[in-house]
Amino acid sequence: MERDAILLTPGPLTTTERTKRAMLRDWGSWDSSFIAVTTGLRRQLLKIVHGEGSHVVVPLQGSGTFAVEAAVATIVPKTGHVLVLDNGAYCKRMGRLSTLMGRKTTILGHAEDQPVSPTELESALRGDASISHVGLIHCETGTGVLNPLQAIADVCARHGKGLIVDAMSSFAALPIDAREVRFDALVAASGKCLEGVPGMGFVFIRKDVIDGAAGNSHSLAMDLHDQHVYMEKTGQWRFTPPTHVVAALAEAMRQFEEEGGQSARGARYAANCAALVAGMKALGFVPFLKAEIQAPIILTFHAPADPAYDFKRFYDAVKARGFILYPGKLTQVETFRVGCIGAIGPAEMTEAVAAVAGAMKELGIRTGTPAVPA
Ligand SMILES: Cc1ncc(COP(=O)(O)O)c(C=O)c1O
Repeated sequence: MERDAILLTPGPLTTTERTKRAMLRDWGSWDSSFIAVTTGLRRQLLKIVHGEGSHVVVPLQGSGTFAVEAAVATIVPKTGHVLVLDNGAYCKRMGRLSTLMGRKTTILGHAEDQPVSPTELESALRGDASISHVGLIHCETGTGVLNPLQAIADVCARHGKGLIVDAMSSFAALPIDAREVRFDALVAASGKCLEGVPGMGFVFIRKDVIDGAAGNSHSLAMDLHDQHVYMEKTGQWRFTPPTHVVAALAEAMRQFEEEGGQSARGARYAANCAALVAGMKALGFVPFLKAEIQAPIILTFHAPADPAYDFKRFYDAVKARGFILYPGKLTQVETFRVGCIGAIGPAEMTEAVAAVAGAMKELGIRTGTPAVPA
């Protein structure tokens, strides 16, 4: 099979042939064989966060945002008040969806090149007793910054506040242990670090929280309590399941376990990240974030100052060499992003750097050095 372009993006991402082949079968949603796939998948997902016994996992059709929206709709009562810790685009999205759903929402803004602050959260919670829930993005994929999940969870636990974590781009690659990190809900999706295809999200919810969540949701489709109760009773999804996506995820999960689980996956992505950064730095590029706050998921690089640089032309030239880059998401500085996740290793990252070097030569970009170094 001819190789597809390698996706250096935060999802959809490059998947293995085994995962793609798992979609070559049609499943009946009511059939016991498909019910067994869903049940097995839920059991394995819970194992990754060590949530067996204490948590449930509720899958939901749709892209990742659908699952974030469903988590807020289901967990936060209509009279609740969500404080969103904001240091980037996905934080802003959580704030927006919470506001649109009619939940009182406060945004605690931070700089985009800094992690969110447990100290600032502490004073915000002291200053407003009406806050019932905190929203956190674990890895803010807009830049790639890693936010301090454990420290934020500890502050929320001390204050008796609920915590909703969007761990979309970190789950399965970075350690998350539900026995240590107290969260109400933690959201991830099929097409990220588990290396499945996009099309379903899933939300880990503490048992006492899901049991008390009946009637919170304003929306039928987004009601994870309803989905959970139905799934527990019948083994089935409430509405048409993304059968091929579920089958692909079950196959991707087998490969995840064969690889050695979260620690092995995290180590491969860290090696990808190191190979990418070393190669790009050698071409003059400068990462937007300091290394110590960078998650090994996606890298933001400053755009080169060379007048020959134009993102669209650069993107096309890199694509012609077999690699798909990702545009930047920052408003103040011109950047582009390169993902290190997916069924790829350091060898592909080194090839990607060679593709960037080839594109620079073709376009006459002498160096990747930006006008404003970080
Ligand atoms: C942190 C984060 N939240 C949410 C999402 C969900 O986005 P989508 O609805 O496009 O899958 C993503 C996707 O990359 C993400 O990285």
